[in-house]
Amino acid sequence: MEKLERIVEPSKLTEEDKIDTSLRPQSLSDFIGQDKLKNNLKVFIEAAKNRQEALDHCLFYAPPGLGKTTLSHIIAKEMGSNLRMTSGPVLERVGDLAAILTNLSEGDVFFIDEIHRMNHLVEESLYPAMEDFELDIIIGQGPSAKTIKLPIPRFTLIGATTRAGLLSSPLRDRFGIIEHLEFYNIKDLTLILNRSASIMNIEIDQDASQEIARRSRSTPRIVNRLLKRVRDFAQIQGGKITKNIAKEALDALAVDNAGLDRMDRLILNTLVNKFGGGPVGIDTIAVAISEEPDTITDVCEPYLIQSGFLARTPRGRIVTEAGYKHIGTEPPKNLQKELL
Ligand SMILES: Nc1ncnc2c1ncn2[C@@H]1O[C@H](COP(=O)(O)OP(=O)(O)OP(=O)(O)O)[C@@H](O)[C@H]1O
Ligand SMILES: [Mg+2]
Repeated sequence: MEKLERIVEPSKLTEEDKIDTSLRPQSLSDFIGQDKLKNNLKVFIEAAKNRQEALDHCLFYAPPGLGKTTLSHIIAKEMGSNLRMTSGPVLERVGDLAAILTNLSEGDVFFIDEIHRMNHLVEESLYPAMEDFELDIIIGQGPSAKTIKLPIPRFTLIGATTRAGLLSSPLRDRFGIIEHLEFYNIKDLTLILNRSASIMNIEIDQDASQEIARRSRSTPRIVNRLLKRVRDFAQIQGGKITKNIAKEALDALAVDNAGLDRMDRLILNTLVNKFGGGPVGIDTIAVAISEEPDTITDVCEPYLIQSGFLARTPRGRIVTEAGYKHIGTEPPKNLQKELL
């Protein structure tokens, strides 16, 4: 099956996303939404600064594109410290980790993206580093091997993951601050979009802003990406983004009025047409639509569940009444009973 190109794929960064960091908020006050999390962080940062200590280790978990990396930049900035970034799969050996940790300065922020994908040995060597700010280095082999403890600067580890459930509990327990980022509401997405439009000098009507915000999977990265694509359509029609242009562009990009794209609709259609609406396990769905199970669990499923189109049951995923209606199929009469 041909791979679907997804404009609303939040996890894959396009070249444009990478180059364009100008839209990334630089301070907590620029960071829109997530009020509870922001208020907590403000207190923790302020208190750590007053005590002249490094901030406690933080774990952020959320689906892709909601602002985990952005927050780690902001924390480093607010703490007035350097940021060192890496990701779980890149830290292949204990030596890779040791090299980074021993080069940190007091109070630095060390960000590990996809921390759930770290190798076990590396993960275990991170424990004493997080807890006691020391590394256990083994010298020699066999019975004469010795462990020496190497002190490292007091640092703040920030871990990001799409699913907290994939983290081992010894690792999770070593984070003092564990926060979940919520999907954004339309009001906040509209604010993010307006902020981006003004940075990029794009003229946009308010009802067009809301239309794009409504269709952007409650995700800031997608709001920004859709804005750039809609701008292309507007540019050849005079410049300003009106609601009509926004609608026309989003339809052309196959993003429907609930923000679902072809892959999301394919999942719903497959569940309904091939599996009687479920319950179906993720691996079976993945095979049926030729997609990676991780992409479905991390990217499609959270938004389908949040939109109320899909539900997770102990026996697998099922399409809800709203899900049936969204793809234009009449739900079976006994559907609600099955949900229980
Ligand atoms: N609260 C926010 N306010 C304004 N813009 C935001 C906010 N959160 C995220 N963004 C924008 O969305 C983009 C994506 O955010 P970010 O890279 O931090 O997501 P992420 O959670 O790290 O995603 P991934 O899991 O894919 O690494 C940022 O470049 C930024 O421009
Ligand atoms: Mg990130």
